[in-house]
Amino acid sequence: MLLYETLERQLKKEPNYVTDNGKLKKWVVINQAKNNDAELIGLLLNDTELKAKFFIDINGILVFNQNLFVQFLEQKNYLNDSYTQYINKVGLNIDGKYLKQRNEVALVWPFKDCVLEGGQSREEDKREEIFFNEILAQDEITQLLEPKVLTNAKRYTEKGEEQLDKFNRNEKGIITDNIILKGNNLLGLHSLKEEFAEQVKLIYIDPPYNTGNDSFQYNDSFNHSTWLTFIKNRLEIARTLLTNDGTIAISIDHNEIGYMISLLDEIFGRENKKNIITIKRSSVSGAKVINPGVVNVSEFLVLYSRTANLWKPNKVFRSKERDDRYNNFISNIEEDPSSWKYESVLDAFAKFKDIQKSKLKKELGADYDIELENFFIENKDRIIRFAGLDDKSISEGVKNVKYLSKDDDTKTYVFNRENHNDYYLYKGNAILFFKDRLIEVEGKWKFGEMISDIWNDVLPNDIHNEGGVTLRKGKKPEKLLNRLIDLCTNYGDIILDYHLGSGTTAAVAHKMNRQYIGLEQLNYGANDSVERLKNVINGDQSGISKQMNWQKGGEFVYLELKKHNQTFIEQIESAKDTKAVLKIWEEMKAKSFLNYNVDLQKQEQHIDEFKALTLAEQKQHLVELLDKNQLYVNLSSLNDKDFAFSAEEKKVTQDFYQLKK
Ligand SMILES: C[S@@+](CC[C@H](N)C(=O)[O-])C[C@H]1O[C@@H](n2cnc3c(N)ncnc32)[C@H](O)[C@@H]1O
Repeated sequence: MLLYETLERQLKKEPNYVTDNGKLKKWVVINQAKNNDAELIGLLLNDTELKAKFFIDINGILVFNQNLFVQFLEQKNYLNDSYTQYINKVGLNIDGKYLKQRNEVALVWPFKDCVLEGGQSREEDKREEIFFNEILAQDEITQLLEPKVLTNAKRYTEKGEEQLDKFNRNEKGIITDNIILKGNNLLGLHSLKEEFAEQVKLIYIDPPYNTGNDSFQYNDSFNHSTWLTFIKNRLEIARTLLTNDGTIAISIDHNEIGYMISLLDEIFGRENKKNIITIKRSSVSGAKVINPGVVNVSEFLVLYSRTANLWKPNKVFRSKERDDRYNNFISNIEEDPSSWKYESVLDAFAKFKDIQKSKLKKELGADYDIELENFFIENKDRIIRFAGLDDKSISEGVKNVKYLSKDDDTKTYVFNRENHNDYYLYKGNAILFFKDRLIEVEGKWKFGEMISDIWNDVLPNDIHNEGGVTLRKGKKPEKLLNRLIDLCTNYGDIILDYHLGSGTTAAVAHKMNRQYIGLEQLNYGANDSVERLKNVINGDQSGISKQMNWQKGGEFVYLELKKHNQTFIEQIESAKDTKAVLKIWEEMKAKSFLNYNVDLQKQEQHIDEFKALTLAEQKQHLVELLDKNQLYVNLSSLNDKDFAFSAEEKKVTQDFYQLKK
């Protein structure tokens, strides 16, 4: 075999070096070689022939001959050159490496995603929060993504809080309880991956928008790439939870929508991009109108399917102002259509009220509008409008009848159609019925239309009151979730939100009789999703309750990922001074898992230098010492005596993962 054939065969063992149609990505390999990439060098060393060609032996140590290797690859004749750099260039790229090929994990503690401090009332009161961004490289990740031990499990019902005895399951063994899981969402998703693989019909997330005001701001130099890595890590695992006909819907604003779509295209495939919905999130008023230019009042809801051709959204309507063109009334609807007579709606209304048409408004006074509205609804079958028909959009048959009717004003013509509504034609016009434009909203018939990709009617005036909880800036309207859930799910389907915040998704899913799973890292105290769901169970009447005729009832299970090093991180975050930080360090030495390369003696020797650092630097340093693989307790440690798990923890964890005792 020629050397270049051996090389090509060996390099193709690494999937990242191969294009989708099986060609070697020479440009990527050259790039890796120039960076002395360990994976590439390892691959070359594994083949005797390549080892002999591209390495020099100096006193028993093999040195990679980078120049020779790159030159060899760059010689046009040696390797298939049919791919281009451009093929490889499509896709998101960080530091010269495609995001697709990067295997790091962005942990990110969500400190300023939303304004967290419960008591804050003014923006200026915001605390200078410390925020730890951490990206772990692939080789630093060992057990990070293993499922975790569960703790603090409770079942909430109308009767209150009780200990969780057992999860409910369906005939396929899938858990049918609603779940609220506290902990880092990446690790939470990995804990759900087996139990809920391909079970979730809709994933909705409202992640940090990377606006510069949220948590990713802490370190500006990698703000954008951290955000991308953070979103990517979670989307990849979330995708595996979706049913084949499932949907993922993501709220995002102008700051990152372009990148979000590129990322979704990479992970879900372009063919799965279904809608980009514009949401009106505020009005043109307040501080926004001080500066000249375009006032930003929109954000977006991006919808991707898991499998393009299996995606079957529902038909959803929205209410709107009555269309004044519906102003004709069929006086004798009981008779054959050929003999229908028409008059104006107002004439018919006047007759019905037995009041002269010109005196209607005066006599009915304040009741005029409501009485007329009721008349429209009660006569929805006989109120119509005449609409012109474009010859280009109708069949020959309809066209013939259209022209017959045009020259004959004595009767109404009917053109019957199989599997479609019949055409009624009068004087060359089609007759459209008011009833076909009505929808049932909150138990009442209203004038409506199918939803479009502009949702300017989902923001209520009193969003801050919804659910009885506050989440300044971050909270989504119940109506938005209601419409999305209507569009993408049916009764009993599972909905997942892994950026749960104040629990809007869960509250709406609960009122709509859908099963839900919510993940959230922070405990918002009185504004927590748990409090909101307790309100829902007890009959909360805010948000979409009236529309859904929500009474009360139902239940949910609360769980936490069992913390280990995460406990230290939380203590470090809230430490007020160096004394407190040093106390935590003492405890860390005894009880935490430190990174394998931390030399305790050296830390102690340099303790005075440590004390001289600013409080923020001290905190950052301590967090960096902790092994992130041990933030939460791995399932594999369930029988480890050192952790001294309670009987409850063991029982719930075993039951959730269906482990043999
Ligand atoms: C914009 S808020 C979501 C608000 C939510 N849609 C609502 O209506 O209340 C984003 C949420 O994601 C959470 N979050 C961010 N990063 C997280 C992580 N790594 N693990 C768990 N939750 C996280 C934040 O704590 C925050 O509550």
